[in-house]
Amino acid sequence: MADKLIIFDTTLRDGEQSPGASMTRDEKLRIARQLERLKVDVIEAGFAASSNGDFEAVQSIAQAIKDSTVCSLSRANDRDISRAAEALKDANSARIHTFIATSPLHMEKKLRMTPEQVLEQAKQSVRFARNLVGDIEFSPEDGYRSEMDFLCRVLEAVIAEGATTINVPDTVGYAVPELYGNFIKTLRERIPNSDKAIWSVHCHNDLGMAVANSLAGVQIGGARQVECTINGLGERAGNCSLEEVVMAVKTRRDYFNLELGIDTQHIVAASRMVSQTTGFVVQPNKAVVGANAFAHASGIHQDGVLKARDTYEIMRAEDVGWSANKIVLGKLSGRNAFKQRLQELGVQLESEGEINAAFSKFKELADRKSEIFDEDILALVSDESVTAERETYGFVSLSQHSETGERPQANIVFTVEGREVRATSEGNGPVDASLKAIETQVQSGAEMVLYSVNAISGSTESQGEVTVRLQSSGRVVNGVGSDPDIIVASAKAYLSALNKLQSKAERVAAQG
Ligand code: KIV
Ligand code: ZN
Repeated sequence: MADKLIIFDTTLRDGEQSPGASMTRDEKLRIARQLERLKVDVIEAGFAASSNGDFEAVQSIAQAIKDSTVCSLSRANDRDISRAAEALKDANSARIHTFIATSPLHMEKKLRMTPEQVLEQAKQSVRFARNLVGDIEFSPEDGYRSEMDFLCRVLEAVIAEGATTINVPDTVGYAVPELYGNFIKTLRERIPNSDKAIWSVHCHNDLGMAVANSLAGVQIGGARQVECTINGLGERAGNCSLEEVVMAVKTRRDYFNLELGIDTQHIVAASRMVSQTTGFVVQPNKAVVGANAFAHASGIHQDGVLKARDTYEIMRAEDVGWSANKIVLGKLSGRNAFKQRLQELGVQLESEGEINAAFSKFKELADRKSEIFDEDILALVSDESVTAERETYGFVSLSQHSETGERPQANIVFTVEGREVRATSEGNGPVDASLKAIETQVQSGAEMVLYSVNAISGSTESQGEVTVRLQSSGRVVNGVGSDPDIIVASAKAYLSALNKLQSKAERVAAQG
């Protein structure tokens, strides 16, 4: 029988570490439910000890998720580990993932610890964690740049203390496939008790090789767990991308000969949800989930695919959840049809109140837009006003005037803690005027580092999806807003970013 390859998703932990990708608790919960639908084996839900916000996110995911193991990261100390165990206490299946750096550079410069001290701390933390939870993963941070002899000593010792999974991170994305694969192989061959643990790979994409390195770790090294994120989200160039690893192993089963538990039909919905939540747009030519991944433009290719699909297609679009871009609902559709379509799209709203809010948004949209696509519905349900989160700022209405040769002016109404506020401003363009109007009241002083507009479904009738990235006091957040009117979408995105700045400030304050 073929071995199983465990898929460990860290979108909500390592992915969220990407500047600007921070998510609220409710957003994380929604993504966790989608990961469960995808049948991910392990969901790394966050880093419980890092803030009250992260603790609550791990806790609510642990309470809600039944089919996947829920994991919290933790530094190798008793306080972090206890906090992780506490957040995970209601989980059906819980894992603590503890780590400490083992490379000479990290030990000397970052930790200012001797190798012997690191070894002792690693052992002690696994021993402590093992008494709280049965499933313990240990990671030697910057493992790939660690000295082989020392790494073998540390990993042998933590397995002896009860670590059940050993993860070997290429923290800085320095590895190349053959060398990384052989690195894992050597560790497994040299460590006498290596067969007592499952070996895992965790690769960053700084040189664009995270997926290749992970697969080499599996094929050459014998790892049986891959750590990855949806859309390859993650710090710097990101992490190993879940959809690419999964589809590589599935499509080339002849080569990898491994079983996967993943229900691949939920991949595109997961990708869309993560992109809309974080504002990190998926490039059109991205493998598996990019808008062009299955589009055949050249005449020769189109002709070939029409005659026999497999002439130019190695995977089926529908197997990863690309349905034809069909019109799903219209103005006359009822609540039940809407609810059913949400289910088909893999969207689970938490309460009847949320379904009602989404349905009324849908009706508003259907009044203004004759064709409603799946993408519109997904954008609509990621709207904060639908998910009933307690946000500081909320959009109410906007009017603006712009005419050639005149300076545009905008009037906006929005809520601050539920209280309506009106503001007016001029600007270089109507978007600029609208955002300046908001600032006259909010005075966040945040710097805008990115503004982008994307048409959700490809025509001028389409909804515009706007991403705004703000930076303030060293914090970077993304806000996303969608509306057929891109000026309204921009104002929504700006308010959403301000909400995130606010909640991030609270999270940072809670850590102190
Ligand atoms: O990249 C890394 O080293 C990590 C560890 C904490 C596993 O994310
Ligand atoms: Zn990492």
